Amino acid sequence: MIIYCEEEVAAIKRSNQIVAQILEGLEAMIRPGLRTKEMDEWAEAKTREMGALPAFKGYRDYPASLCTSINEEIVHGIPSSRSLRDGDIISLDFGVLYEGYYGDAAVTFPVGKITPKAKKLIQTAEEAFYKGLDQIKVGNRMSDISHAIQSHVESQGFSVIRSFVGHGIGLSLHEEPQIPNFGLPGRGLKIKPGMVFALEPMIAMGDWNVEILDDNWTAITRDRSLSAHYEHTVAVTTKGAEILSLLDGEKKSSSYFKENRYA
Ligand code: MF3
Ligand code: CO
Repeated sequence: MIIYCEEEVAAIKRSNQIVAQILEGLEAMIRPGLRTKEMDEWAEAKTREMGALPAFKGYRDYPASLCTSINEEIVHGIPSSRSLRDGDIISLDFGVLYEGYYGDAAVTFPVGKITPKAKKLIQTAEEAFYKGLDQIKVGNRMSDISHAIQSHVESQGFSVIRSFVGHGIGLSLHEEPQIPNFGLPGRGLKIKPGMVFALEPMIAMGDWNVEILDDNWTAITRDRSLSAHYEHTVAVTTKGAEILSLLDGEKKSSSYFKENRYA
């Protein structure tokens, strides 16, 4: 995998700050009746306004800029004229290319009033990310992250999706290594400063089997149970892990993008 120098990490952070601003803007738009296509259009326009390009559009022929995955949809939901309904949960996954570097992050939001169990699912995905992040320290290996994510999710009675993984990121959207959200600890590369990767637990209320819809993109749970996603781009530094896709400074207003709400 690529080891990035400090200047490169700073550039990757700039891309991720754009991603974070867009996700924050999308969060503010969410209400019953909103069409997922409206979110996609807003995200793409805003991205271009900031001088960046949407990273997903055209990636392996993906037809939109944003992924909007509702309820039992896990990931890669394609924005459409479908409107949000009270009680839905929606996972938004967004990436940009800015000045040569990629940013990528995802989060699941409630629409109106959701059940306590759906809320717990969303929170568990976020907590699982932070459990993975805690493993980023000297001497640890990549699969320590995977194992910590899986252990937390399963301790809450939920399951980890097996068919999608986290990934290195920077000069490309997807770089080595793949980072599964499950597995035995102590395997894989030693974690070192200069590594940059996207950790992205995807979890389900029921079991982890996946089906792909006829659009060839949308992944859903086979048992149609609800699914949540939480992703940040993270850099390993000499001082530990830095989340590049959390908003810096003043804009840290959104409930979902505050530093470690879970702590
Ligand atoms: N965050 C997702 C990932 O890393 C987004 C890819 S969406 C795609 O796999 F449409 F570009 F494929
Ligand atoms: Co990703």
